[in-house]
Amino acid sequence: MKDTIRKKNGNRGELYSPVMARVLDVVEMTSDVKLIKVEKPKGFSYSPGQFLMVSVWGAGEAPISITSTEGVHEEIELCIRKVGLVTSALHNLKPGGLMGIRGPLGNRFPVEMALGKDILFVAGGIGLAPLRSLVNFVLVRKGDFGRAAMIYGSRSPSEVLFRDDLKGWAAKGMDITVTIDRKAEGWRQNVGLVTEFLGKQKIPIKEGYAFICGPHIMIKNVMRDLSLMGMPTTHIVTTLEAHMKCGVGKCGHCYMDGKYICTDGPVFEYPELKKSGAF
Ligand SMILES: Cc1cc2nc3c(=O)[nH]c(=O)nc-3n(C[C@H](O)[C@H](O)[C@H](O)COP(=O)(O)OP(=O)(O)OC[C@H]3O[C@@H](n4cnc5c(N)ncnc54)[C@H](O)[C@@H]3O)c2cc1C
Ligand code: FES
Repeated sequence: MKDTIRKKNGNRGELYSPVMARVLDVVEMTSDVKLIKVEKPKGFSYSPGQFLMVSVWGAGEAPISITSTEGVHEEIELCIRKVGLVTSALHNLKPGGLMGIRGPLGNRFPVEMALGKDILFVAGGIGLAPLRSLVNFVLVRKGDFGRAAMIYGSRSPSEVLFRDDLKGWAAKGMDITVTIDRKAEGWRQNVGLVTEFLGKQKIPIKEGYAFICGPHIMIKNVMRDLSLMGMPTTHIVTTLEAHMKCGVGKCGHCYMDGKYICTDGPVFEYPELKKSGAF
């Protein structure tokens, strides 16, 4: 009976009913963001860009991107900003605690399109979380791609996430630009929006590929500017957030102009979004 209700996807995760996963470690990244490492269920596999529906008993369920990378991280890593009921309950979990996970859900970054080519990653705020999975995927296959560069924007120095990863990526030869929105005491790096730094990397805009994640307005402006600078729109890829309930294309909560963000996305190429008028 259980098997008729539970539906497994091709990656041996659960689509419709959560499996319980044990929290192994919780790292406080900023005042409102934690990195939670959970034990990977047996046979579970995922790709950069996919997400999980994560639940805590009595609080509910929320979509969260997988920020770890298979083959690089043993555990599933989730980077979670506390904004409401579910994310607060997730922040209260301690090592040894349990959370429910459904997934992996959604499509993935079509990174094979950039084989042999240079890649620009553009992230804003917690948008670095899904991109981190892809960056690590690309860096372990360095010989398969060209150069890699990243522009990462945060509102303030205290909100810069994944500092050790950023240093590690730079040490591996990635050209990293970290910027904050406004001047702040003690900050010696860049100041300004990520769009001000587009085109300043050694990535030929006309042949390169861009993978973007951040707030809606940032995504919209970065896609527009890269396109105006000559990057073909089919080379520009982003991942979107939306209010979700089921995560499997059944409830309609994430519907946007003929697409379900949970199943057609969350990763989209610019031409698909341009048609919708939202970008
Ligand atoms: C595919 C996908 C991947 C995501 N990945 C991550 C991630 O890696 N890390 C992370 O911290 N968050 C991520 N999110 C956002 C996360 O799902 C929401 O912050 C979460 O659902 C909020 O749940 P809550 O119960 O804590 O907040 P609620 O109590 O439901 O809401 C608190 C406030 O946040 C607003 N809100 C809730 N959900 C969203 C949303 N999706 N977009 C904008 N505003 C919202 C509500 O309107 C309300 O004002 C992702 C969302 C999607 C769709
Ligand atoms: S969240 Fe239910 S259809 Fe996408």
